[in-house]
Amino acid sequence: MTGLFDSFQRHINYLRISVTDRCNLRCIYCMPPEGVALASHGEILSYEEISIVAQVGAKLGINKIRLTGGEPLVRAELSKLVQMLSQIEEIDEVSLTTNGTLLKRYIPMLKQAGLSRVNISLDTLQAGRFRHITRLGELRDVLYGIEAARGAGLDPVKINMVVMRGINDDEVLDFANMTYKEGWHVRFIELMPFANVAQPVSSSEMRQCIASLGKLEPYLRVTGNGPATYYRLPGAEGTIGFISPITECFCSNCNRMRLTSDGKLCPCLLADGEIDLKEALRHNASPQELERLFLKAVASKPERHHLADGIIPMTQNMFQIGG
Ligand code: 5AD
Ligand code: SF4
Repeated sequence: MTGLFDSFQRHINYLRISVTDRCNLRCIYCMPPEGVALASHGEILSYEEISIVAQVGAKLGINKIRLTGGEPLVRAELSKLVQMLSQIEEIDEVSLTTNGTLLKRYIPMLKQAGLSRVNISLDTLQAGRFRHITRLGELRDVLYGIEAARGAGLDPVKINMVVMRGINDDEVLDFANMTYKEGWHVRFIELMPFANVAQPVSSSEMRQCIASLGKLEPYLRVTGNGPATYYRLPGAEGTIGFISPITECFCSNCNRMRLTSDGKLCPCLLADGEIDLKEALRHNASPQELERLFLKAVASKPERHHLADGIIPMTQNMFQIGG
């Protein structure tokens, strides 16, 4: 077998890189209203340092990278990083997860720098509710961002909705309908219980609700690296995905490692055991030493999380590790 494998024979080819823990929104399930103590500029990896880590990963078998945050577009000149990463020979795809608010402004530069795709987080289609959920944002900025990304041909643009009981679960059908109306690719995400804001809604409950629009046909062709299962409503242009960390544990297909903005390589969103690469980078570690640390982190990937049993071992917050 060639490539990178963990202790459970999972093929690891995907690196999610959080470029900042800052965000221009304060979503109720992610951040407290006053914001959080943020890492200072010197604490986070420079683009050069991120690129070195990516090169080490690429030599070992990483071929896909996703940039996350916080909100990645609040970091200055993100397209420079996109360009540096897409120039690495082994890297086939550099994509972005964003809240979309700044996307319209940056999409031409990002596209030119080699960005392959974007996922946009959007939890409501109602302007007032958007302000409630994000505390700071304007819905129309995200809608402009979605249009800009689609207009630039970054296909497929995926819209991620975190479904919260009693907060936005009455909009599941509206989002599903957007696969007809606008050809959106929508993914419904079960809320993970990190902040005590609402109860999750299970994917099976969402599927039942959407079935009132038509029979969900399994759909296998969506490009992606992730844990979603995809469907399509009869005749719809867009697709519907479900990401079910609570009710349908997908750990057996996990293909990813995560790099935090302050340089920790994390084997799992839901487990500790991170490895500090920043110290090594700032002490001029050799490529061999960095490779050794990377492999050590991969080898320590746990088999699965235990969210379904109510065990939440969060060592990092979502805005630090990037979802
Ligand atoms: N549960 C599920 N998804 C979450 N995200 C952030 N916090 C949570 C949570 N508690 C999502 C964001 C975004 C991605 C980066 O992670 O909405 O889609
Ligand atoms: Fe920002 Fe995303 Fe957290 Fe919302 S969920 S506050 S957009 S990082």
